[in-house]
Order: sequence, then C-alpha cells, then structure tokens
Amino acid sequence: MPKPIQKLKGMRDILPADQKYFRYVCQTVGDLLEKSGFQRIDTPILEPTKLFERTIGESTAIVEKEMYTFNIKGEESVTLRPEGTASVARAYIEHGMHTWPQPVQLFYIGKMFRHEKPQAGRYREFTQIGFEIFGDSHPLTDATLISLIWQIYEKFGLKDLVLEINSIGCSSCRPKMRKALIEYYKDKLPKLCEDCKRRFKKNPFRLLDCKISKCRRIAEKAPHLIDLLCEECRAHFTQVLEALDELGVPYDLNPKLVRGLDYYNRTTFEIIPAKKINKQQAALGAGGRYDGLIELLGGPPTPAIGFALGVDRVVGELIEKKIEVPEKRKKVQVFVAALGELAKKKSLKIIKELRQLNFSVMSALGKESIKAQLKLADKLEAEYTLIIGEKEARANTVLIRDMLSGVQESVEEEDLIKRLNELIEEKKQLIKENNE
Ligand code: HAM
Repeated sequence: MPKPIQKLKGMRDILPADQKYFRYVCQTVGDLLEKSGFQRIDTPILEPTKLFERTIGESTAIVEKEMYTFNIKGEESVTLRPEGTASVARAYIEHGMHTWPQPVQLFYIGKMFRHEKPQAGRYREFTQIGFEIFGDSHPLTDATLISLIWQIYEKFGLKDLVLEINSIGCSSCRPKMRKALIEYYKDKLPKLCEDCKRRFKKNPFRLLDCKISKCRRIAEKAPHLIDLLCEECRAHFTQVLEALDELGVPYDLNPKLVRGLDYYNRTTFEIIPAKKINKQQAALGAGGRYDGLIELLGGPPTPAIGFALGVDRVVGELIEKKIEVPEKRKKVQVFVAALGELAKKKSLKIIKELRQLNFSVMSALGKESIKAQLKLADKLEAEYTLIIGEKEARANTVLIRDMLSGVQESVEEEDLIKRLNELIEEKKQLIKENNE
C-alpha cells in the first residue's frame, strides 16, 4: 500500500465541525464592517516579491525568512502574500483610489502564508480579516477604528482581553529614538539573543519586543519611545488616548510595542488575551498607522491606518472558552431512499424536481439496503424520507416518512410535492401553536 500523503506542516484542514466558527467570525466581522462603511476588496494571493520587500521591510523576520517565494522561469519572482495591507495599498494606487471620495475604507478576508515555526496558534497558512482606512490622518479616526475593533471582540463574548497601544513616532522623531536605543543597547549586546544581536544595527526597535526572557529583562529599562515623540506625534497620541477614554475603551500603554512590519508609524496596537501577555504569537489581532506606505509604493501622500484580525486565533479562543456559535448548517429537509434499479431511476427525477423547488435534499443511491439509507437519513437529522421500493416504483407511489414521529403515508407520485408542502405547512402551524 502506498504511504498516505499528509498535509504540509503548518497548513490547515478546516473540517466540517469547525466550519461554523470560521463562518460565524467572518460573517459577524464582515457585517459589522459593512455597516461601518467598509467595502470589500479581494486581491491576488500571489504578488510580486518586491511588493513585500519594499513595504514590510527587508530586515523583518517575515521578509528575511518567512515568505513562500518562487520563481517561474523567465518571470519575476513571486510570493504568496504574508499579509494583506501591502496588497491593498498596491490596489489603492493601481486603481486610482486617491480620486475616490476620501477616506476610502476597505476590508478583505483571506488566507495569508508565512513560513514560521508551527506551534499552537501559529500556522503557516492562516486567515485574516483586515480593514484599512486611507486618506484620513485625524487622531479621532485612530480612536473610532480602535473602538470598532474592541466592539468586534466584545461581540464574540471574548473577555479578559487587553488592548495594548503605543506610538512609535514618525520620520522626524524616529532617528532620535533609534539613536537612544543604540546608545542603550550598545554595551549590552553580549547578553542578547542571536536575533537581537543581528537586528541591533538594522532595526534596533525590534529589540524592544523580543520575547526571550533575558532580552525582555534588558528591554525593561530601555528608553520609552513615547518619551521621545516629536510634538506633533505626542499631540496625536494624546488625542487618541483621550478619545479612547471618552469612548470607554480600556487600554494598556505598552512602550515596547513596536510591531514586526516596517511600514508603521505613530499609533500601533494589538489585542491580546490577558493570560497570554508576553507570550509569542498570542495576539488575536494587530494594526496601526502607516502614513508613509502609499507614497513609498509610488502613490500620492496618503495617511492610512488599519488592523487585521487573526481568524484562526479568534476561533481557537471561542473553542477554548466553549463559546457557542450559531449553527448555520442547512439541515436536510428531504432524504430520498430507493431500492432497486427502477426506483433509483425514478428517484433521480424526484431529487431534481425537489432541488428545483428549493428543498434541501440528499440521497445515497450507492447504498443497497433501505435500512442503511434510513440510518443515514436519521444521522443527518432529515425531516422527511421519501421511500421508493420496488413495489412503489411499479405502482407510481412514494412513501413519505416523518423521521421524528416515524409516521409513514403512501402518496401518488404526481401528488408528492403537494403533499410534502402540506405536511411542512402543518408542522409549521403546530410549532407556532405550541409556541403561543
Ligand atoms: P500581523 O501582526 O502580522 O499584522 O498579523 C495580524 C494578526 O494576524 C495577528 O495578530 C494574528 O492574530 C494573526 N496572525 C499573524 N501570523 C499568524 C500565524 N502565523 N498564524 C495564525 N495567525 C497569525 C499584519 O498582518 C498587518 N497587515 C495588520 C494591519 C492591517 N496593519 C494595518 N492594517
């Protein structure tokens, strides 16, 4: 026997039992976003590699070692998207969205790919719901976006979450921050992990959020970025925090929150389960401002802010916390069971007609015995089973079995639909009367 082939490490099969969670999260967030003026956009899963190199940053972990990049002979290098913001920013420019009424609010739901070390909550293929606002630099926009995000998590019934927030400044205050960090870290290098040693020169900001305990201890006393903000950035951040206070959105200031993508400036934030703070890969979602990204990609100066919710992690929390989500699976209304060649042939026509009339209908004509077919109908919680045995097939009749009561009646084939509708209507009435 050949060895079974298994899915790739870190990739996910989302089995039928978990579909309801994914559907619920995507639908709930999608509805809320549409109600808040966001329009859906879908961008390709495959993009030019240079898009991510230029935006996420060459010295970030994502670009350095986590991208699924490949070359097709003679064509430019392509990459499976590791995140969505860069693609949406590209689309904003490519479709001239700066000429649309501003702000332009877009959202997307899709798979992202990062070749990370797989562990609980960290996959190589995962789903994000991302939302982006282009063309609005006002601090109140940061606050309303964050408040919407908080509402989304509240709607899921997820408690004990912490909203961590920081400001990482702008191009005018960041050189000063960088200098202060280099000054602080320069004589501590031997005590840092290898990743931090490497990042020290390229991106000293990342040293602040290393999760390795010896690096965390050193980061404790590192200069706080918010103390080094320029006046404009400080005023912006103060207004964001004041508005959050006003809106009743609780937050924790985390001076070490720097984010792992280079395009950010000013406000950055993450949503983390309280008991997982300081753990790697715990955030249920994260985002921030990226006022320079559109320009960096060749578009006109356009301030922007956004967020991405990690669907797999939110689903993981819902399951862990045993939070019930509505089951949207459409139940099988009619199961068609047939015995013998003639009956099976007849059942094909009946199934087709029922489908055309919008009944949810299923059969398992490959099963020989009626008993096995009824067993399946039972398992699927079908409301009615139509039984066509050899006798019924010859007499042009059908047995309708109410699967709950077990009551069966024989009807002429030509009266089948009419009778089924009557039975369904009678049941509806009965339920209504019982509820009154
Ligand atoms: P990010 O922090 O890289 O930001 O990812 C956002 C969220 O995606 C994380 O908080 C987490 O919930 C989920 N996530 C990330 N990596 C994984 C993984 N390997 N397995 C499971 N879930 C994961 C971004 O991607 C930015 N584009 C967010 C953004 C939008 N900023 C502005 N607009």
